Order: sequence, then C-alpha cells, then structure tokens
Amino acid sequence: MEWTNENGFDWCEIVDIDTFVGRLLQPDTRPAKWSGDDIRRAMGYFNEENRRHSDQRRGVTLVNNDIAGSAGASPGISLSFQPILPGETLDFHRHNYIAIYYWIEGEGYTVIDDDGIDREEHRQYWKAGDVTTSPAWSNHAHVCTSETPALQLAIHDFPELCYKRAMLSEDPDGHEHLRHMVKGVVPSFNALDTQADLDDREEKIRIVSKG
Ligand SMILES: [Fe+2]
Repeated sequence: MEWTNENGFDWCEIVDIDTFVGRLLQPDTRPAKWSGDDIRRAMGYFNEENRRHSDQRRGVTLVNNDIAGSAGASPGISLSFQPILPGETLDFHRHNYIAIYYWIEGEGYTVIDDDGIDREEHRQYWKAGDVTTSPAWSNHAHVCTSETPALQLAIHDFPELCYKRAMLSEDPDGHEHLRHMVKGVVPSFNALDTQADLDDREEKIRIVSKG
C-alpha cells in the first residue's frame, strides 16, 4: 500500500453518531430473478477450446445491481454456476472465503489436501444432488469424472470479505500466487487471469435479465 502522513490524516474525521448511522444505511434491494434460460445461455460461452489455463473458472455469477458498494446476488453472498467439462480438472487453489457447492449435474470429486496432492483419502466424491463444502483456506481441486459436464452451484461469502478488504486468494496453488484482494493487485482472484481475459469474457457472457 502506498501512503504518507505528510499532510496529516485528512481522510479521517469525527462526526455525530447519528450522522454516522446515516452514512451506514444502504439502499434497500428489490426482489431479484434470473431465469434458467439466461443462465444456460451465459454458460454456453464455455467450450473445450476457450479455456486459457487449468485453473480458469468457467463460472457465471448472478448480480443484483441494487446492491451498492459491493456486488452479489444478495448483500454479502454470491451465487455462481460453474460447469466442469468431462475429463477436466479445476486445479488446486485456496482462499479465505467459504464455498458451499450444490452439484446439479454430472459426477466427480473434490480433493482437499494441504500439499496439493490428489490422495484417495482426501477425496469428496459427489454426484448430482449432493452438497459439499470447501472450508476457508482449504487447498482444493475439482475433478469431473462423468462423460457429461458436471455443474455446480457455488455459494460464496467473498463479497463480504472484499467489502472488509479482508479477502485473500492463493489461486492457483503456490505461495507466489498469494494475493490480498484489493483494487490494483490483480483483476481477478486468479493470478493467471489478465485484464484482457476478463474484458473478453465480460463482453461475451454478460446478459441483462428480462425476468
Ligand atoms: Fe475454490
């Protein structure tokens, strides 16, 4: 972080407590809806050819633009749909946000191993209908073993951590990829993604919900 005290601390002030409460209050959020057809269409962008590296998400995320000062499906919570194609692995990585997965389609396993090794005794086998979790800072990888794509709904609390400037990501696995996730560090939680990658995907995937 770059900063100096040469002009004092002129970004700091003292205010009346009720003024403070007024600053805290957020606009209310309207009820949201995203259609399954739109979600499928957004996921349709992903194919075997356009994956840049083996830790790249194929995720689409639901956003309610009523949420000010952050982003998510609901304040502090994000919902993402992530297909994993047959034979594909999402490489080891870890983060201090929690992940709860509802497996909608396909079959495979998640391996959670501190050393980033795919050991049989550290696998969570899953199939459609199962729910699994990757706790905060667990080193995890997902593997699709079915002949059709696996599809997960991922529930994350990282909007809240980002708002607190407290999100950490080591993605992909390796201390050289450990990042404090604030603006200006890397454009995404994945250290291998470039801004050009993100701009390209944003342009091709973004859909405004028609309800
Ligand atoms: Fe993860």
